[in-house]
Amino acid sequence: MELCVILGDGVGQEVVPAAVRVLQAVLPDVRLHYANAGYDCLKEHGTPLPDETVELATRCRAVLFGAADSPSFPVEGYYSPIIRLRRHLKTYANVRPTRHLPVPTSRFGVDLVVVRENTEDLYVVDEQTDADGGRSTAQKIITRDATERFAHLTYQMARRAERERVTIVHKANILPQSDGLFRRVALEVGEQYPDIQTDELLVDTAAYWMVKEPTRFDMILTSNLYGDILSDMAAAWGGGLGMAPALNLGDDAAIAEPVHGAAPDIAGQGIANPTAMIMSMMMLIRHHWHLPEVADRLRAAVRATLSDGDHTADIMMEGAISTEMFTDRVISHL
Ligand code: NAI
Ligand code: MG
Repeated sequence: MELCVILGDGVGQEVVPAAVRVLQAVLPDVRLHYANAGYDCLKEHGTPLPDETVELATRCRAVLFGAADSPSFPVEGYYSPIIRLRRHLKTYANVRPTRHLPVPTSRFGVDLVVVRENTEDLYVVDEQTDADGGRSTAQKIITRDATERFAHLTYQMARRAERERVTIVHKANILPQSDGLFRRVALEVGEQYPDIQTDELLVDTAAYWMVKEPTRFDMILTSNLYGDILSDMAAAWGGGLGMAPALNLGDDAAIAEPVHGAAPDIAGQGIANPTAMIMSMMMLIRHHWHLPEVADRLRAAVRATLSDGDHTADIMMEGAISTEMFTDRVISHL
């Protein structure tokens, strides 16, 4: 097995090496290939995603990605490397589970998965601004083909994970054409899986229920932007962003990439929570390499570490241990 390892920016530099140490403890034969991407990479190599990185990721078909710092203003030569890489490897679904974990910040009984379409919507990043700078537009693209293949993957995953219900989330009341298409196609696909219940919610209502009663959700099928926002909300119930894993998944490629970003406020201090990155890697091992026993061992080790009360500062300042020490504890539980 080959793995392309991209640390990226900020806490990516800390949580990816932690996850790699854990990986080497369970699968020592995986061949690691390190590559560059991100904002620092732009400054150093003139591009946020060098061709060598794309080639390596394409050859390995499996990637660990830490985080990329994306400025909220236009920067010459910059684009989001992760969005580009997701599209390049055709990882057309982004799977983001939230499950109760034994920490005080996690909500008991929550066990849900947000599955987010990963290639279209506003994330095609096609923006225009007129000459006097007073008007900007952004393209939102929804296609039947992309929605269909993504919905099938979601329902198949629901079936494998023995989930009972898929909730389609959209805003078709305001956008009856684009979100209307998404909704229609998702419902059509849902009809082909009669063993799984399907219902639907408008995204604002879904947000309300995500805060008020998150245990009512099982699997959420939604478009790119809504999925981004709802999965960060859901992450709060799993114990916080430091604990929220994600997997970009396609037919023959996967990118393990936590929900969180570069976390510049804590980067470089050795205090980042590596759980999200370790659990993202666990998802790659389960869903892409198809090694459920190894994935189960990893999950059990993380849960045992947290059950012992070991935690990083994002969970609780009192008694917090470093990224490195937390990782040691996980490895000792394997
Ligand atoms: P963020 O997810 O980086 O941080 C939000 C909050 O969560 C911060 O208080 C941070 O300290 C905390 N946090 C995040 N990960 C943590 C961890 N592993 N352990 C402990 N605490 C953690 O989101 P923010 O601050 O909005 O964005 C920072 C940068 O990251 C931006 O440039 C943004 O564009 C980028 N970003 C990149 C993503 C990616 O590469 N996939 C995803 C989200 C944001
Ligand atoms: Mg996000």
